[in-house]
Amino acid sequence: MSEIPVAERAARIEYAIRDVVIPANALEAEGHEIIKLNIGDPIAYPGLPTPTHMVRAFQDSLSRGETGYSPSYGLPSLRSEIAKDERGKGWNCSPDDVYVCHGVTEALQIIFTATLESGTKVLAPGPHYPPYMAYPQLFGAETIEYRLDAGDGWRVDFADIEAKMDESVRILVLINPNNPTGNVASSDEIDRLISIAEKWPNCMIIADEIYDELDFTGTQTSVASRSKSVPVFTLNGVSKGYYAPGWRIGYMALHDPTKRLGAVRDGIERLLRSRLCASTPAQMGYLAGLEQSRDWMQEYTQKVLSQRDLCLQRISEIDGLEVESPGGAFYMFVRLTDSKWATDDKKFVLDLLHNEHVLVVHGSGFSKEMGLGHFRLVYLADCDVLSEAFDRIDRFLQRSR
Ligand SMILES: Cc1ncc(COP(=O)(O)O)c(C=O)c1O
Repeated sequence: MSEIPVAERAARIEYAIRDVVIPANALEAEGHEIIKLNIGDPIAYPGLPTPTHMVRAFQDSLSRGETGYSPSYGLPSLRSEIAKDERGKGWNCSPDDVYVCHGVTEALQIIFTATLESGTKVLAPGPHYPPYMAYPQLFGAETIEYRLDAGDGWRVDFADIEAKMDESVRILVLINPNNPTGNVASSDEIDRLISIAEKWPNCMIIADEIYDELDFTGTQTSVASRSKSVPVFTLNGVSKGYYAPGWRIGYMALHDPTKRLGAVRDGIERLLRSRLCASTPAQMGYLAGLEQSRDWMQEYTQKVLSQRDLCLQRISEIDGLEVESPGGAFYMFVRLTDSKWATDDKKFVLDLLHNEHVLVVHGSGFSKEMGLGHFRLVYLADCDVLSEAFDRIDRFLQRSR
C-alpha cells in the first residue's frame, strides 16, 4: 500500500538547530564523542543548573499533590508576580494582561493563530530564531525578513524595515537580545522601531525578551515600556535567564496603550481555554524564581561572560573566522571568511562534524539569505571545552584550504 500523505505545511517545516543533531547522533552511535555547541539549553552544559530554590518549589508543589489542571491563563499568583516584574521594567502591566503558556514557543503559536490570515505578513529579523519563519506559513501568512547589519554588530537596518512595511504586515518582531546574533537594541532603536510600526494601524509588535536577564550591556529595555501607541506582545519565561527550559513555562503579556486589542485578546483567550493550561508544578517553580532573590544570576552571568570572552579571543586569532561581539544571550554568529565556506556554511558544519566531531549550526538555518556564510555557536560549555572546540575548528579550517 502507498504511504498516507503528510500535510504539506508540516513537510515544509525546518528547525536547523535540531536537524543537525541527526548526523551527530549517528556518529555518537558509532562511539565518537561530539563537542555539541548547537543547542541553547543551559542544562545541556555543566555548571549552570536550575537554581535549587526553584527546583524545591517545583518538588514541594508535587508533594502537595498540585498535579491538577491550572486555570487556562495561568496561576493567579504567578500572573500577579509576572505583572509586577513587567511593571519593574517600566510599563503598567496588570495580572490580567499576563497569559502563561508552555514556553514562549506556545505563546507564539497562539499569537499567530489569533492574528494571521492568508495574505498577511510577519516582519522578522534576518537572521532569526526559526519558529518565526516556520509558524506563520501554517496560517497562509508569510514571514519577510528585515536585515540585521552583519558589518555593524547585527544592528537593525531601519531603512530595510521601512521599505518592507505595508498594510498586510500584522506583526513586527524584535528579538532582544537577539538569537542568533547576541545584538542588544538600544532604547533609541526601539523608539525608531515603534515609530515605524505606528504608521500602520493593524501592526502589532512582538518583543521576544526571553534573554533579557542575559544582557551584558546593561542597556536592554522593554519594548512595552517605550510604546504609547503600538500594541506590544512581550514574551518571556523560565527557559533562559532562569535556566529551566525543560519546564516549558513562559508567558505573553499584552500592552495595549490605545485599547485596540479587544477582539485579538478575546481570540487569544479562546485559544488558551481550548488548550487547557500550562504545567501546574512548573508554574510554582517559576513563581519561586520570580519571588526570591536573583542574586545568584550574577555568578551565572559571570561564567557565561568569561566563556564569551574566551571565544572572542580565540576567534580573533583564527584565520578564516570573524565575529561581532555579542551584547547578550549566549550565542555568537561567526562569519566564515574563506570563500569556500562563505557560500556553503551547511557543508562547513557537516564536514566539521564528521572530521573534528564539533557540532555547531549553519547560519543559513537562521536565514537562507542573511545567515549564509556563518555558523552559530552556543558558548555555554566550559572554557576548556570551548578551547578544545576552537583548536579543532582551526585545524579543520587549515586542512580544508
Ligand atoms: C528568541 C527565542 N525565543 C524563544 C525561545 C524558546 O522559548 P521557550 O523555551 O520559552 O519556548 C528561544 C529558544 O531558543 C529563543 O531563542
